[in-house]
Amino acid sequence: MPPSPTPTYDAIILGAGAAGLFCAAQAGQHGLRVLLIDHFDRVAEKVRISGGGRANFTNRDLDPAAPQKHFLSANPPFCRSALARFQPADFTALLERHGVAFHEKHKGQLFCDRSAGDLIALLLAECDAAPAAGGRVDRWQPCAVRGVRFEAESPSGAGSTSAGSYFVDSDRGAVTAPALVVATGGLSIPKIGASDLGLRLARQFGQKIIDTRPGLVPLTFDGAAWAPYAQLAGLALPVQISTGDKKNRTVFAEDLLFTHRGLSGPAVLQISSYWRPGTPIRTNLLPGVDVAAALLAAKASSRRLIAKELAQWLPNRLAEAWAGLDEAWQRPINEASDKALLRLAERLTQWELVPTGTEGYAKAEVTVGGVDTRGLSSQTMAAKSQPGLYFIGEVMDVTGWLGGYNFQWAWASAHACALAL
Ligand code: FDA
Repeated sequence: MPPSPTPTYDAIILGAGAAGLFCAAQAGQHGLRVLLIDHFDRVAEKVRISGGGRANFTNRDLDPAAPQKHFLSANPPFCRSALARFQPADFTALLERHGVAFHEKHKGQLFCDRSAGDLIALLLAECDAAPAAGGRVDRWQPCAVRGVRFEAESPSGAGSTSAGSYFVDSDRGAVTAPALVVATGGLSIPKIGASDLGLRLARQFGQKIIDTRPGLVPLTFDGAAWAPYAQLAGLALPVQISTGDKKNRTVFAEDLLFTHRGLSGPAVLQISSYWRPGTPIRTNLLPGVDVAAALLAAKASSRRLIAKELAQWLPNRLAEAWAGLDEAWQRPINEASDKALLRLAERLTQWELVPTGTEGYAKAEVTVGGVDTRGLSSQTMAAKSQPGLYFIGEVMDVTGWLGGYNFQWAWASAHACALAL
């Protein structure tokens, strides 16, 4: 019997996460036959666990004209075009069409009212709508990818618009298409399917990689140095946090959370994406309070313990722990020297710590770095040096802030790519 022919699609998309599903749906609705391949046994698992189970799916404050405000990349202007062509309002319009209720939490962050499952159902329904437009979206999942090769078009193919074919060898057999979209996401949380396939394929096809590291991740500290603060685990408060030198300082005003091993909470997750090993982070535990002036004024009028004075502005447990850090602070405020009070003010407002590391990819929400966008078209997400190869979503060197920016990048890059397929 002759071997059965290799199934052929218009595009193969590797990764059925946020970007892959959205790209498949859009391309299918443009009349293309698309195959999604994903090795994990559940579809879009990262979407399911995102935003505490409610998916913070976009952010109203996103400014496509100034992407560097909310995105990190070695090539900051790259994401401008895609973000401008598919905006948060375009995605909320889609939710409204599907009757998925959502709400704003704070700082422009939009969440599903019910559950992230509604968003996954929407993405799958959008894929199912392809046949009505003459297209088709098939999904092989779970299905491992064994390898990918590219065959340049033979001269007899002259006149065709494609310049070659991708052959994907998978657990379910071989499949071919003139376009390959890599949507395999970042490296965080390998236990729910993250892998480095996208980075390996990028290298295989001559793309450069910007060094990767965990982002939006809790920071950890040396056990002995952290001992005085470990008792504060579970305590949260609003702070101002910064990293970098004077010329290049990044500052966030958000909540900080003490943990047994270090610091977490939105403030720390945000700053972690900018933090570089060996450098300090600086925290103002009392933003908006002139602590030095307030302590000196209290010294003139109060006989209470310093910890009690601090408790006007700080949670009790933190005030007690902080006063306990120095003998000179364990007394009534009127008995403390001005020098000791000024030192205390400085320690509260410019608390400087050098993290020993992060909780790593096991706990990170995103990967900073990835496929270098300088090798890609900002209009289509296509590799400039390799015909028919596209990268979308988190596998690229575009990393959003906490707050829905990473999903908006997944939607926008997928949308730009689908228009070009
Ligand atoms: P995504 O990770 O969604 O999909 C990649 C797909 O590729 C996966 O299905 C994976 O199984 C598949 N894949 C990987 N390797 C493969 C291989 N070798 N073979 C085949 N398939 C492979 N963002 C945000 O904007 N708002 C939020 O609320 C949150 N919350 C959040 C919480 C947590 C706990 C995490 C870990 C992350 C977030 N994020 C987030 C980030 C957000 O989930 C992420 O940026 C997007 O899902 C990225 O979309 P992608 O489609 O690029 O990757």
